[in-house]
Amino acid sequence: MIKVYPSILAADPLRMGEEIERMIGAGADGLHVDIMDAHFVPNLSFSPALSAAVRKVFPDVYQDVHLMMDNPGDYLEAFVRAGADAVTVHAEIPGDIPALLRRIRSLDCHAGISLKPGTGTEAAAELLPLCDQVLIMTVEPGFGGQKFMPGMMSKIRTLRSAGFSGSILVDGGVNVQTAEECVSAGADTLIMGTALVRSADPSGVIAVCRQLGGRP
Ligand code: DX5
Ligand code: ZN
Repeated sequence: MIKVYPSILAADPLRMGEEIERMIGAGADGLHVDIMDAHFVPNLSFSPALSAAVRKVFPDVYQDVHLMMDNPGDYLEAFVRAGADAVTVHAEIPGDIPALLRRIRSLDCHAGISLKPGTGTEAAAELLPLCDQVLIMTVEPGFGGQKFMPGMMSKIRTLRSAGFSGSILVDGGVNVQTAEECVSAGADTLIMGTALVRSADPSGVIAVCRQLGGRP
């Protein structure tokens, strides 16, 4: 079963509530919430206040929080308290990543590791037993609307052939065309910003993506 999470970074910030409602109404399986610290990536985005506001109005909506931060350890509890159901940290950050993943799980939250385009799967190898999900970046993190990097598909294949049976998410430049490559490589969750949130027919986009999972 393929899941589709709209990335609300692509939403109009002045109409965030309406945009989220539109995505949920279109059948999204959850929301992808990008957190940027202007340090790990050259951009700023949201804070736990947004997760809390979403949780208040949409209590049943699954929040997949992607921490593009150098120091996610300082904010884990805040995001989980605010409403995160999954928290993903990056493999490239300094510090004790296994301890972070264990802490996320101890908060009853799904734990994930993300790989930037230049980071190989070997960086995640020892972390996999501590992860519910791996997020493969298919663009350089920091901005929406960039071009999908097909060369990342081999990482998904490597993870699956190594026996990783958790979720594999793809993030960056995913649209109905590139989604097909992702699913055939072994991804089960598609994060879509521009191609879904800015689409005139989001339920059509989600339906096409879901069908990809039904193919042999
Ligand atoms: C990029 C973010 C993505 C981004 C995807 O750093 O992690 O989640 O919002 O946006 P699109 O789908 O437009 O590439
Ligand atoms: Zn993201």
